[in-house]
Amino acid sequence: MTIRAVDPAAVAAAAELLRQGELVAFPTETVYGLGADAASGRAVARVFAAKGRPADHPVIVHVATAAAIDHWARGVPDGARRLAAAFWPGPLTLVLPRAAHVGDFVTGGQDTVGLRVPAHPVAQQLLAAFAETGGTGIAAPSANRFGHISPTCARHVAEDLGAAVALILDGGACEVGIESTIVAFAGDDAMLLRPGMIGAEAITAALGRPLQAPDRSAPRTPGALASHYAPHTRALLVPATLLLAEGRQRLERDENPAVLARTVARPDEWTGEWRHAPADPGGYAHELYDNLRRLDAAGADEILIEAPPADSRWLAVRDRLQRAAAGIDDDRD
Ligand code: TXA
Ligand code: MG
Repeated sequence: MTIRAVDPAAVAAAAELLRQGELVAFPTETVYGLGADAASGRAVARVFAAKGRPADHPVIVHVATAAAIDHWARGVPDGARRLAAAFWPGPLTLVLPRAAHVGDFVTGGQDTVGLRVPAHPVAQQLLAAFAETGGTGIAAPSANRFGHISPTCARHVAEDLGAAVALILDGGACEVGIESTIVAFAGDDAMLLRPGMIGAEAITAALGRPLQAPDRSAPRTPGALASHYAPHTRALLVPATLLLAEGRQRLERDENPAVLARTVARPDEWTGEWRHAPADPGGYAHELYDNLRRLDAAGADEILIEAPPADSRWLAVRDRLQRAAAGIDDDRD
């Protein structure tokens, strides 16, 4: 495994490795992706092996421009085109009926394919360079071990995947910091499968109609189960008003809690790890996974997380925190 700073030679080398069926980790504006040639079953199988991920979980196909939508999907509804026009390149994934040639190894055997045009300049350069070699798309889940927190810098990828990756393109810290918003279409009805920093209001406005609640006709999203995205240490969401009392109780019981606070200040007598997260949802999301990784590494027996506000701007952060707090025994991508 090599970590390379990004320059044209590194991007060209990465595209060539993808062409040869190797794995390349690369930055996107959300989190780092573990990339493979989306047209090669052999290459995509290596992604699943590297992550330790079950084979029936679909992976997102990253493409250079919205024009590629018709290569990968069929019967694309107008609403999906409106969302692509409004938010691509950007942190939005569209789940659409797959084109006939799209492999089960990408769709997890479902009849849909997830597509995204990432905005990060390095992802854009890599997709363009890969297209020049004849590549049609890069299949990339988050570049973490199955069950762990998504990586938001090159070091996180190296810690999780190390030798399994031929090359990690180091593009610094990811700006958004949590995974893309996922919207699935069933006919013309759009459903939010995973909240992200593009909020439901913005999507509804661009669609010109409300989002439907996911129902049984919604595409299965393995890995979007409650305990996805979890640290190894047990985590608990605690209302701000109870955070100090809960922390002190644990210290009195000779436990070793760590805290991720947002508005509550660290008391002078606090002996354990105490991290302070930004007060706004964008800043909070940007630092969230690095905060969780650092807290996880602190050797605490429990992480107390100050619960975020209940308003819609915090929906995606709340979603990830609830998953982090739900435990680590389930199914996670
Ligand atoms: O921001 C992101 O979306 C990042 C970057 C690298 O693009 N990728 C990412 O991929 O988070 P992953 O595989 O870790 O999470 C994607 C989620 C999974 O839960 C997967 O089951 C779901 O999207 N998904 C992908 N394709 C799908 C499909 N066709 N139908 C339903 N769910 C799908
Ligand atoms: Mg993931």
